[in-house]
Amino acid sequence: MLIPTDEQIRALHERHAPTPEAFERVYTHCRAVCEAAEQLLVRAAPGVNADLVRAGCLLHDIGVYRLYGPDGRLDGSRYVSHGVLGHELLAEEGLSETLCRFCSHHTGVGLTSEDVRSQGLPVPVADYLAESPEEELVMYADKFHSKSEPPVFLTAASFAAKVRRFGPDKELRFKELVERHGEPDLAALSDSYGHRVV
Ligand SMILES: [Fe+2]
Repeated sequence: MLIPTDEQIRALHERHAPTPEAFERVYTHCRAVCEAAEQLLVRAAPGVNADLVRAGCLLHDIGVYRLYGPDGRLDGSRYVSHGVLGHELLAEEGLSETLCRFCSHHTGVGLTSEDVRSQGLPVPVADYLAESPEEELVMYADKFHSKSEPPVFLTAASFAAKVRRFGPDKELRFKELVERHGEPDLAALSDSYGHRVV
């Protein structure tokens, strides 16, 4: 499988970002997630494809660009669909299914068809659960940074509190991930990005 280079991925972001601000917001987040994942990779099981994790992190949120309206504002009401939109975008660009899946399978700690049905989410009814070790790492690393205004890094405790409102099963799933992968060094990331840790 062909894994795009960092430069190719950056060019893809630049091509699809509706505004320089959107690019800055989404691409910076993707880079922060990538650095968090690279720290976690050190502890990951041998055999995890580091190049694939890197590309997955840099690509995972590219679908967010499709949520910007003509007024340059993000449509937050359909935010959950950014994963599926990113999958479609990368498929249209000719990227492999393995790469497309990083977009559609990174939301929260994983969406089940039951979640989609019971919460009436604006995505096709299906399971969107990270399956490969690479998908799991991208999905997990994503939880430690938020594209909020201003962007922030989140500790495991902060994300656990956030995910709790989606049910105790989601919080438990996140805690299992914390046990398996540990936490990235957010102080170092916070220094290099200038984003606060909350
Ligand atoms: Fe993300």
